[in-house]
Amino acid sequence: VIFESSNEASILVAKEIASLIKNKQAQNKNCVLGLATGSSPIKIYEELVRMHKEEGLSFKNVITFNLDEYFPMEKESIQSYYYFMHDHLFNHIDILPENINIPDGTIKSDIYDYCMSYDNKIDEVGGLDFQLLGIGRTGHVGFNEPGSHFNSGTRTITLDYVTRSDAAPGFLGIDKVPRKAITMGIATIRKAKRIVLVAWGINKASIVKKAIEGEVSSQIPATYLQTHDNTTFVLDKDASSEL
Ligand code: GLP
Repeated sequence: VIFESSNEASILVAKEIASLIKNKQAQNKNCVLGLATGSSPIKIYEELVRMHKEEGLSFKNVITFNLDEYFPMEKESIQSYYYFMHDHLFNHIDILPENINIPDGTIKSDIYDYCMSYDNKIDEVGGLDFQLLGIGRTGHVGFNEPGSHFNSGTRTITLDYVTRSDAAPGFLGIDKVPRKAITMGIATIRKAKRIVLVAWGINKASIVKKAIEGEVSSQIPATYLQTHDNTTFVLDKDASSEL
C-alpha cells in the first residue's frame, strides 16, 4: 500500500493496532504485539500515545515482544532499544511493566537458553497477533541479516557492516557500534498472524524493490515475507519509487 506521506501512513497503521487492541479487549483477551525500533515506527508510536492520552486507548491487555537488541548493551544506555521503546512508547502509556518483553542485551551466560525461552514465551501467550517491522538496507527484518535461515528462531547474530555503518551516527562512530545483536528469528516473525512492514524515503527504495519483487532468498531476508499470507508493506511514495 502506497501513501503520499509517511505521516498519513503511520496514522493508519496506528489505527489498525488500536482497533486490534480494542477488539481483543471486547473479548476479554490479551493482545500480543511484536514491536520494532528504528526511525520508521516513531510516528506510529507517537500516534498510539496520542490515542492513549486523548481518546483513552488502554494498553492494560497488551503484551509486547520487541524484535531485537544490540549485544552487549546496557538497558540505561541511550543507544539501547530498551531505552528507545520506553522513551517513545512505554513511559507514556498504561502498559503493565511485566507485559513488556525486550531481548536482554546484558545476558552473560546461557544465551542460547535465554533465546529459546524468548520464543517459548511468545508461544505461551498465544503467539503474536500483530508484528510491526521496519527494513534495513541489507534487507534485514529485526536484525536477521543476509544468510538468515527461514527456520531461524531468536538467537544472537553478527551485524552486517552496512547495518553498523547506518547505526554509526547514533553511536558517534562505527567502532562503538556493537558487533552483535539478539534478534527474533525469521520463523518467530513469520508465525505472527498479521505482519505490517513500514518503509519510508528514497534510501529504502532499492531494498523495498528487492524485498517485494526479488526472488525469495536468504540473501534478502525480507523476501521471506512474500510467503506469509497476511503481510502488508506500507510505503510512502519515495520508498515505492523503484517498484
Ligand atoms: C535497525 C533495526 C531494524 C530496523 C532498521 C531500520 O537495524 N534493528 O528493526 O528496521 O534498523 O531502521 P530505520 O527505521 O531507522 O531505517
